[in-house]
Amino acid sequence: MRDTKRIDLRDDGAGAAVLMCLREGGLAAVPTETVYGLAADAANGLAVAGIFEAKGRPHFNPLICHVSDLAMAERYARFDPVSRRLAERFWPGPLTLVLPVLPGAELHPLVLGGLDTVALRLPQGPLRSVIASLGRPVAAPSANRSGRVSPTTAEHVLRTLRGRIDLVADGGATEQGLESTIIRVLGNEILLLRPGTLTAERIAEEAGLPVRRRAEGDAITAPGQLLSHYAPAGRVRLDAVAPEPGEHWIGFGPEPVRGLEKAGGIFNLSPEGDLREAASRLFAALSAFDAPEIERIAVAPIPREGLGEAINDRLRRAAADR
Ligand code: TXA
Ligand code: MG
Repeated sequence: MRDTKRIDLRDDGAGAAVLMCLREGGLAAVPTETVYGLAADAANGLAVAGIFEAKGRPHFNPLICHVSDLAMAERYARFDPVSRRLAERFWPGPLTLVLPVLPGAELHPLVLGGLDTVALRLPQGPLRSVIASLGRPVAAPSANRSGRVSPTTAEHVLRTLRGRIDLVADGGATEQGLESTIIRVLGNEILLLRPGTLTAERIAEEAGLPVRRRAEGDAITAPGQLLSHYAPAGRVRLDAVAPEPGEHWIGFGPEPVRGLEKAGGIFNLSPEGDLREAASRLFAALSAFDAPEIERIAVAPIPREGLGEAINDRLRRAAADR
């Protein structure tokens, strides 16, 4: 349980309180022009894992990164001319651009969901100046439990997240009440990944390019599915009690494990058995053992409750036949 503090955005020091919360790796619900977002420092893996935990999200879907200006955005993603033009025209506003992430960009892998693209948005409202002060992007999905409707008031946030987050910054009802439009510019067309308050027609008009609706079965429409590319080269064995000789071992928790000295390599997701820490280190573990010479990886059982559901979902994908 977290002690959820509610503050009024009209109060002096409200912005500073949100900033402090994010700097300390906390979770703050903050209004944008679309919906309330559940904000965390996008470079802090524990904080980002906390978003998934608080929402009870069963999958590590990639999250939108919010920036304070175009210059910040360009430090994290490679802009094509059309995307830049749309950003200049519609930011700050309800437009999210999916762009290739720049190598070395300091965004935690959980934010990207293992993809090599990042979704960027410059929101209206108080979050913008907080991000500017933080100096780097803030990950923020809608501030509601998974499967519930997106919140447009602080009350609405508290209904499902009280006790699960650190702070709610009350700025009254949001102006638009519906999430941003997500697009990806691909060559001479624009892919509409999620319709939102900015219409496809306005985007097409500004870009001078056709906007294509997502089709069933479009690989790119379902980021969750694309995660399979993050599966390591070797075979992955789940719910293992102990490593077989030569297997690489991904452990969890403090219990001693038989035969560990014969493992090819060891990575404990959380020696203390903390699911949030395990979630934040999962992609690091899988990529550390992703090498052609590593043929077999065994993974200890991870509890299935809470954040464990998303961790196990991700592990199942990594272990799936391909
Ligand atoms: O209005 C909004 O966009 C709100 C406010 C808080 O800003 N934010 C929001 O964020 O809805 P979030 O994280 O819930 O949106 C995630 C959506 C998911 O549907 C995900 O599939 C998509 O963004 N997404 C994120 N990164 C992506 C990527 N690299 N490629 C394709 N889709 C991506
Ligand atoms: Mg949502």
